[in-house]
Order: sequence, then structure tokens, then C-alpha cells
Amino acid sequence: MAPVVSGFSKLSKADKIKWLAEHHFNNDQNAIDTLVTYWNSDNRLQQLHDEFTENTISNYYLPFSIAPNFLINNTRYTLPMTIEESSVVAAASKAAKFWQTRGGFKAEVISTIKVGQVHFTYTGNPAKLEAFFSNIKTKLLSSVSHMTTNMEKRGGGIVAIELRNKTTEIDNYYQLHCTFETVDAMGANFINSCLEQFAKTLQSEAKKYSDFSTAEKDIEIIMSILSNYVPNCLVKAYVSCPITDLPNTKELSSEQYAEKFVRAVRIAEVEPYRAVTHNKGIMNGIDAVVLATGNDFRAIEAGAHAYASRNGKYSSLTHAEIKDEIFTFSIEIPLALGTVGGLTTLHPLVKLALQILERPNAKKLMQITAVAGLAQNFAAINSLITTGIQQGHMKMHLMNILNQFEATEIEKKYLITYFKTNPVTHSEVVAQIEKLRQ
Ligand code: MEV
Repeated sequence: MAPVVSGFSKLSKADKIKWLAEHHFNNDQNAIDTLVTYWNSDNRLQQLHDEFTENTISNYYLPFSIAPNFLINNTRYTLPMTIEESSVVAAASKAAKFWQTRGGFKAEVISTIKVGQVHFTYTGNPAKLEAFFSNIKTKLLSSVSHMTTNMEKRGGGIVAIELRNKTTEIDNYYQLHCTFETVDAMGANFINSCLEQFAKTLQSEAKKYSDFSTAEKDIEIIMSILSNYVPNCLVKAYVSCPITDLPNTKELSSEQYAEKFVRAVRIAEVEPYRAVTHNKGIMNGIDAVVLATGNDFRAIEAGAHAYASRNGKYSSLTHAEIKDEIFTFSIEIPLALGTVGGLTTLHPLVKLALQILERPNAKKLMQITAVAGLAQNFAAINSLITTGIQQGHMKMHLMNILNQFEATEIEKKYLITYFKTNPVTHSEVVAQIEKLRQ
């Protein structure tokens, strides 16, 4: 077990690595060399990455891939995707190619409202708090005017502030429930700064409010923070085609395919065990675009899964139906994304990702990202109801196993050819490598 260390963050990078090597790597030079191998030779770039977080000792690469042929609202896009899981990008590309000859994807932003709350304790008469709130509402707004001016110039700002009485859930618990329009910014800093100022104004105004008793004047701020639950920052995307345009194989006619597909989605709508995996597949596509474009995938994940449970039971984020011989497959998902601020102007690959997407505004990025999720889910269900998932997965996984065993280029070439006609399983790949090396 490593000893307690204090002042670690103040050590130089070299000393941090020395400490790590001593306490975790048995001073193994190979471990140190591995960390150093991943440093960028461009010092300026390395420093940029070092400063993204604290205690950075190396860089952790993820593949930066692209999926072409995404026809979205009649415009063709190439999607940047950052993800480590094999077969996700291939699946996205395959779905994009399939739908580009069937009208492509359609997407529409339904709403763009974000939420933040000041959680506080007030001990006293609720009616007096309401009167106080009406009285200070304009003061609350003017106290943040220095922060909102620029946002208002861009078409955003504070949409509303509401007082919410939550005392049936927790004694003396109230909220300022605030809604925001942050246009092309994800807006976390803007929202949190406004909320913290609202909290200060609320507290100081309460102290001066003559109708309050001494206890009522003593509002305690518990916390001020944005919410990653954004059910009103919503985007919808869909694909649609006559069922006769769906895959038609010797095992399944187009009509049977459509019905099996709809049934698979229906299962995810009613069965939480399936819904979680189904939505995980959707998030494969969504997170990959979110990460490539420098957005916060944890926020997106949290919001998406909360939305999937909004009716009290975890359910599918996508839906499918057949109506009048037309197959429609859609997604509805909250996506609070930004295309300005944060990493978007800092990370060179994020800048390139946004350039690949032709510099979208936040609404466009919401549409593109929702489409990535829908495409991913289409590809997954397509595999699941036909060949099964392992066929595609294991083919892609083959390369990972070969790399794990440090296969040479000649070995790779031979084994890739071999596994074109033989089922890929981990043990079979290992057996074939061993056989080849004998
Ligand atoms: C794997 O990362 C994702 C899938 O399991 C999604 C699904 O089952 O729908 C293939």
C-alpha cells in the first residue's frame, strides 16, 4: 500500500513519476518509459494537456475516428468519433450508408432550456417567503446583469426563476428553480455563476426584509448548482422508409425484418434489463461524438438515463413502429451540448472535430449527436435480430487480440485471412497464434 503523501500536487512531473515508480511500480524503468512514450514531443501541446487536469503524468490516447456518409436533414456529414470500443465506428458507418439511400436521417431540436437550482433552508411562514420572493425577483435578476449581458447579446440569458416549496419532502427545504437559455455554450459556468449570485442576493435581501422574523431572516444556502437533468433541452431524430426497402434475406423477408425490429425495440421499452443495454448501445454513438467535440459525456450520460426513467420505469430512448407499410425508427433524448467555450477552443482535435462537422452551432450538434445514437442503435438491433452481435464484434476484436499478443505484420495478415472463414473466439485466436509460432 502506498504511504500517505502530502503536497503531491506541488511536486514536479518528474518527481510525481518518481514517487509513483517507487510506490507502485517497484522502480521498474519500463513502467516509467511507458508513461514517457505517451508524452507529446511538442512541449507546448504537452503543457496544454498537462493543464487540463491536475497531477498529469502522461497522456491517455483514445482513437479519433470518423464515420462518413451521414445524410442528416439533406446535408451530408462526416462524424468524428472518439471511442475505444471496436466495431462502434464500423457499425455507425454501416447504418449511415444504409440510410443515405433511404432519405437519410431527419432531426429536429424540440427545446433548449437548461436548469439550475439554489437549494436552501427557510424556517418560517411559507406565504411570507412567497411574498418576499415576489418582492426581490427583479433584484435577483439585476444582481446578475453583469454576467447576463453578453449571453443576452447572443440571444440567451435567464428564462425564469421560480420559488419551489419542497417542505413535504424535507422540512424547511425550498428551491430557486431557474431556467436558462445558453445558446451555443453548454453553459455550466454561466449557470453556476448566476446561481451562486442568486444565492448571495437571496440571503442578503432576507436579512434586510422587515416582514421576516429573526428566524425567517436566517436563510441557509445548502448549495447552488446546475442540473444535468435537462428534459427541456430535447432533440428528436428519426429514419423512415417503406418496409419493402428494409433488408430482405433468405431467413427474413423485409416485412418479417420490420416486425422483428419493432418487437426488439418494444422489448427495450418494457424490460429494464434489456433497456439498459439497448440504451448503452445508443450511448456508444452519442458519447463518441460528445467526446470528440469536447463535451462532457458524463453530463450527457446522467441526463439521458434520467430521461429514460422519466415515467417511473427505465425504458428505451428509441421507438419503432410500422404504420401503413412504413417503418419509422426514432430517438428522443436530452442533449445539453456546446460548440463554444470549454475544450472547444482549447483542444486541437476538438477544433478539428468541429471543423469536420462544418462548425455546427449547438442545435446542429444536438441533431448530429442524436443521429449518431439512433444509427448506432439501428446497427446493433440489425445485428441482434439477424446474425447476432458476436460476428461483427469478434471480427473487430480480432485485431485487439492480435495486438495483445504482439502479432507481427506477417502473422496478422495470415490470421486475418484465416478468420475470414473461421469463427473468431478468443481461445481460437490464441490457439492459431501459438500454432503459427511453433
Ligand atoms: C455493445 O457495446 C452494445 C450492444 O450491446 C447494444 C445492444 O445490445 O443493443 C450491442
